[in-house]
Amino acid sequence: MTRQLFDHVAAAYDAHRPDYPPQLFDTLESALGQPLLRADVLDVGAGTGIATRALAGRGANVLAVDHGPGVLAVLRSRSTSRVRIVVGDGNALPVRDAAFDLVTYAQSWHWTDPARSLPEAARALHDRGVLACFWNLLMTDGLPWWEGFAAECAQRAPGYDRHRRDIDWGAIIEASPDFRWVRRVEIPWSRDVSVEDFVADYGTHSYVADLDETDRASLLGALRDGMHDAFPGGRAHLPYVTRTWVARR
Ligand SMILES: C[S@@+](CC[C@H](N)C(=O)[O-])C[C@H]1O[C@@H](n2cnc3c(N)ncnc32)[C@H](O)[C@@H]1O
Repeated sequence: MTRQLFDHVAAAYDAHRPDYPPQLFDTLESALGQPLLRADVLDVGAGTGIATRALAGRGANVLAVDHGPGVLAVLRSRSTSRVRIVVGDGNALPVRDAAFDLVTYAQSWHWTDPARSLPEAARALHDRGVLACFWNLLMTDGLPWWEGFAAECAQRAPGYDRHRRDIDWGAIIEASPDFRWVRRVEIPWSRDVSVEDFVADYGTHSYVADLDETDRASLLGALRDGMHDAFPGGRAHLPYVTRTWVARR
């Protein structure tokens, strides 16, 4: 099991990370061939429940699994009766076979070991069930304020890897005998955010959250300074893509 990197930043994570765009849930419904209303969904690496709440908001019955009791405490404090919560490992799911229409990994698939998590997802799904892995990706490569922060991260944050987002998960899923059909869907959207909220959001990214308090404050200070130069009004309009892999059994 990987370390529980998000528990100590759970409240800030929930307050400052962005939601997922509504088109993501349309994409999931289209892959499922049915509405999320009354669908049985297993949300793995559910964290504080940003995706869990959106799935439940569309009427799905969601079982939220995460190995972090701290993030799950936030999820529990904000959930409805449509959400059940279990502490567990995405590489050894605490669920019975063929119980779900959809298994989701919202920004969490890359934390699992696909050699174990793929067969586990397949086991949890019924025949023709759908696996969905998705990430909100900031699309600011090449902008000086962002490149400045990325260069600082490369120097000072050992866990930082700007190319991790480029992994071709589709090829890995396709190579598995458990899934027959895989598609990549890119959903562009944008976010209007204050510099302070954005800095607080980045404080919850694993490679920043993992630093000691002094290094973390100094790295976030560099981000804040760069953003205030680029956005003197204190607000930024930022482009994102929600990259989604959907696969069917
Ligand atoms: C970046 S957060 C995503 C949280 C949430 N799904 C969201 O959309 O905001 C990744 C989550 O995966 C969880 N996680 C990482 N490895 C895990 C594992 N092996 N089993 C279960 N959960 C795991 C972490 O505890 C964390 O809550």
